[in-house]
Amino acid sequence: MIQLRAKRILRSLLLGLVCFLLISSAVKSQDKPVLTVAVEPVFPPFEFKASNGDFQGFDVDLIRAVGEAGGFGVKFQSIPFDGIIPALQAGTADAAVAAMTITEARSQAVAFSRPYFKAGLAIAVRDGTTGVTKLDDLKGKAIAVQIGTTGAKAASAVPGAKVRTFDAAVLALQELKNGNVDAVVNDSPVTLYAIKTGNLQGIKIVGQLLTEEFYGIPLPLNSPNLQRVNGGLTTILQNGTYAQIYQKWFNAQPPQLPESAFGTAQTAQKTPIGSLSVILNALPTLLKGALITLQLAAVSVFFGLIGGSLIGIARLSALAPVRWAARAYIDFFRGTPLLVQILMIYFGFPALLQSAGLNFTFNQFAAAIVALSCNSAAYIAEIVRGGIQSIEVGQSEAAQSLGLDSVQALRHVVLPQAFRRMLPPLGNTFITLLKDTSLVTIIGYAELLREGQLIIAENYRPFELYAVVALVYLALTLLSSQGFSYLERAMNPVNRSSSRTQKRSLQSESPRAER
Ligand code: ARG
Repeated sequence: MIQLRAKRILRSLLLGLVCFLLISSAVKSQDKPVLTVAVEPVFPPFEFKASNGDFQGFDVDLIRAVGEAGGFGVKFQSIPFDGIIPALQAGTADAAVAAMTITEARSQAVAFSRPYFKAGLAIAVRDGTTGVTKLDDLKGKAIAVQIGTTGAKAASAVPGAKVRTFDAAVLALQELKNGNVDAVVNDSPVTLYAIKTGNLQGIKIVGQLLTEEFYGIPLPLNSPNLQRVNGGLTTILQNGTYAQIYQKWFNAQPPQLPESAFGTAQTAQKTPIGSLSVILNALPTLLKGALITLQLAAVSVFFGLIGGSLIGIARLSALAPVRWAARAYIDFFRGTPLLVQILMIYFGFPALLQSAGLNFTFNQFAAAIVALSCNSAAYIAEIVRGGIQSIEVGQSEAAQSLGLDSVQALRHVVLPQAFRRMLPPLGNTFITLLKDTSLVTIIGYAELLREGQLIIAENYRPFELYAVVALVYLALTLLSSQGFSYLERAMNPVNRSSSRTQKRSLQSESPRAER
């Protein structure tokens, strides 16, 4: 009893201590605010991760120096580039450093600091490519870009160009290196850095800079921190710290920067477009994406069924090595993330073959189908095995005693019954697959989710668009589960003949026993 009491007192004391520490640390940090700064740390030399996991790069050094001069601390948060403006709008980040160009459209969604870097877009091609020096030369060609960037915008303005959008610039450059596209349009300093560090061999920049762009630090509209950031920036531009950081990363003297790019957020207060028109405008594109999603799922489940059935039967083989091989396949594809498999198949596989001297490239659709089919085959194999094993051995023995051989018995007696039992789990697998098709956005394939992301990258309306995308997926999965219930009913001989049976059983008063 006493012990219990002592324990309780001790616990409340501890709790009080923790509360005190929390409150006092909050009070202490109040004299110097800490801003959550979004970064996309795969854009060297502006922001990337060191081998020890620390953030580094020009932008990272810059914002730290700006914080020191402007009187705020910095806490980094990694966010994909196309998620940065939505994060600022949602208030999950206070600012961002992402080599983000100050544009008029963006200035309606966020407030930019004064310009802190002068850059421009450049075209990159594989060594040996000739006849490309300007955007016009890319007519009808395949161009890889990073989603939501000024490069993506420039590429999509080229008539007839097939633009493939990737989540990261490095993926777009990898795509060029692998020979899947003809060119990349990207910020010149980033492409140059990748070439210079030797991480990207066989690629060169051609022609002149396509644009002159200024990077700014975006903050939420009307952010109280804008002044701090601008103050800090002005200080380090004047006291030489900026030039030092520039020298460190670019080995050169910084160019003169203007005091403002152009339309700043304060001047650009246009009336926002209503949610309904945002949705209506997006709907046709999203429905097109939905069709592609369905197509991906249907083709993959087709191949997955064939592969899965073979592997599932192999799992039951009398030959041990065949069983082991099937087991290994299932373990691998079930035990590794589908996302990794997609990346491996699309980026890894061609790179491997090319390093072996083979000229092999993957088309996105084919790569997506291969990845999704291989993955679903692993799950389907287990369903097939379970289904077959659930049919009593007596069935197959009876069939064989009637003169069927073992394959015939499997085909005519066991499989038809097993298939019915497999239907519900197969339905589950199909629905999972349907949703998992969204993972192929990573290779830039324009299915439903990607179409949504592309629209968000243009209009910065994540709420409406993700909601509609989710609803479209929901509609697709509900429809498929309806389809599967129908199939189940149609394939059930008891149900199929139920009306007849019912009549008969009413007459004979001896209902046919359900299994
Ligand atoms: N400057 C270009 C833009 O603003 C590309 C920026 C990409 N930045 C990044 N962190 N990936 O659109």
